[in-house]
Amino acid sequence: MCGIVGIVGTEPVAERLVDALRRLEYRGYDSAGVATIHDGKMDRRRAEGKLFNLEKVLDGEPLPGTIGIAHTRWATHGVPNVTNAHPHFVEGVAVVHNGIIENFSELKEELIAEGAVFESQTDTEVVAHLLAKYTRQGLDHKAAMLAMLNRVSGAYALVVMFADDAGTIMAARSGPPLAVGHGKGEMFLGSDAIALSPFTNEITYLVDGDFAVLTAQGARIMDFAGQPVTRTSQISQAATFLVDKGNHRHFMEKEIYEQPEIISHALSHYVDFAENVVKQPDMAIDFGSVSGLAISACGTAYLSGLVGKYWFERYARLPVEIDVASEFRYREIPLSKNQAALFISQSGETADTLASLRYCKDEGLKIGAIVNVRESTIARESDAIFPILAGPEIGVASTKAFTCQLAVLAALSISAGRARGTISADDEKAMIRHLIEMPRIMSQVLNEVQPQIETLSRDLSRFKDVLYLGRGTSFPLAMEGALKLKEISYIHAEGYAAGELKHGPIALIDENMPVIVIAPHDRFFEKTVSNMQEVAARGGKIIFITDERGAAASKLETMATIVLPNVDEIIAPMIFALPIQLLAYHTAVFMGTDVDQPRNLAKSVTVE
Ligand code: M6R
Repeated sequence: MCGIVGIVGTEPVAERLVDALRRLEYRGYDSAGVATIHDGKMDRRRAEGKLFNLEKVLDGEPLPGTIGIAHTRWATHGVPNVTNAHPHFVEGVAVVHNGIIENFSELKEELIAEGAVFESQTDTEVVAHLLAKYTRQGLDHKAAMLAMLNRVSGAYALVVMFADDAGTIMAARSGPPLAVGHGKGEMFLGSDAIALSPFTNEITYLVDGDFAVLTAQGARIMDFAGQPVTRTSQISQAATFLVDKGNHRHFMEKEIYEQPEIISHALSHYVDFAENVVKQPDMAIDFGSVSGLAISACGTAYLSGLVGKYWFERYARLPVEIDVASEFRYREIPLSKNQAALFISQSGETADTLASLRYCKDEGLKIGAIVNVRESTIARESDAIFPILAGPEIGVASTKAFTCQLAVLAALSISAGRARGTISADDEKAMIRHLIEMPRIMSQVLNEVQPQIETLSRDLSRFKDVLYLGRGTSFPLAMEGALKLKEISYIHAEGYAAGELKHGPIALIDENMPVIVIAPHDRFFEKTVSNMQEVAARGGKIIFITDERGAAASKLETMATIVLPNVDEIIAPMIFALPIQLLAYHTAVFMGTDVDQPRNLAKSVTVE
């Protein structure tokens, strides 16, 4: 998290740095800052909170200069305030940082013992102090950087300027992403290529252990020993993405309503619409011969993987080991080379997911990445890339990425079933026909349920706690519903397997605890209805999300029943995701929270 950017060139940079930060605000919005060098003097402007606060400061006190670095912060060490905002200055050194310097406490103690005075509570400031110290000792800037890089440990992307050199920016990567942009007579650095897209589409991605020295003429890339390394540039597709809200109030609303169109586009990549079959997937993973799958991801991406587990096991009879990446990476799971591993990530940069990927790679597994950002680190380190083609997702709450991940997982599980001979050609055709129908049904559902959900969300906003229940693939959906509601409305919510209700959560049921039951009329329906009876018997308020058959079959009194069309099991999770997204969205709007940038969260989580 945190977004960083740098420009060294010939034209004024401050405005362009802020423009680039705007495209990086998804990485954090606790504070922002920019520094430039002009007439041999380094200066900075910083502001707490969102970027427009920094823009106001800059309006009052503009910053001239044709070289500069900038930062948007997601706080790890130190509260979000101006003093902790980057860039950090120490004796003519300016530093912006994304990540965590894990040994900062011991370095800070050492530096304080040597007389350093720290201004901020951040871990980043030790980097500036180390560089100042090595410069004082007589090292040139490059040697000071290399000395510093050999002292710090942890995860970091660092961009540095020295006041006495208005022609050079230095950068290093160990973990979080960093892209070098090649302009005409100008060079750029950014946390991603989208940040740099108005300036250039020629991008070189730094890899872990890279140290780069940029001047207006180009970039020299070395390892942390100062030995040159070769990295090739590529033409990024980032500039082709249009990122605005259209006629919607929030990006999240736009992204919810985009789903029918986007999912249709995603499906066309995986499905032969004429023949009703799955297209041959990337040959780097042969689902026909693997003995099992390991899946790992975080948050919403993990929940899509959990739905995928049900599908791979049911349709392809393929055993799936799945865990959240923060656990997976440390569990020392015994894996065999005959297994393949799938990592799911919208951003493709999530630190824990990337670490799990590297664990599996070291164990010799073939790696598949289900990602939205095709140029991301997770994509680049995988043997096979399965793009979800959702386009940029700006709202911190993941919506269209979730349903596109599900669509890809559905196609892959059908493909695996075909390769393993566990589904017939007729079954495959039938399932594909359902997938092809899905965008139309999604449009219908979004239009039909919206007014009812908007009204219902007013009632829901009065409660402090909400329970979501589901069975089968509706269990991960229940967790996804709870995650969506809590992250944007701040209402406490939990998702449970309906069958687990009586093993604990039932103790919470009373008239103050709405229970949202997600139950299409599938093979689990009767059992879920029994669980609903248990809730009703204890005075619980039920919000029942079902289909026409389910609504007709249940006679229970509910606070509300949301009725969706009858759909096949293979598309039900994507269809039933829509009302839970809308419910969270409208509840948050009604409560007046910051829907697109909810408190404490960031879109790309590049620290552990
Ligand atoms: O970029 P990723 O898909 O790897 O991100 C994983 C999670 O951080 C993400 O899904 C998060 O849970 C969302 N905010 C949920 O809406």
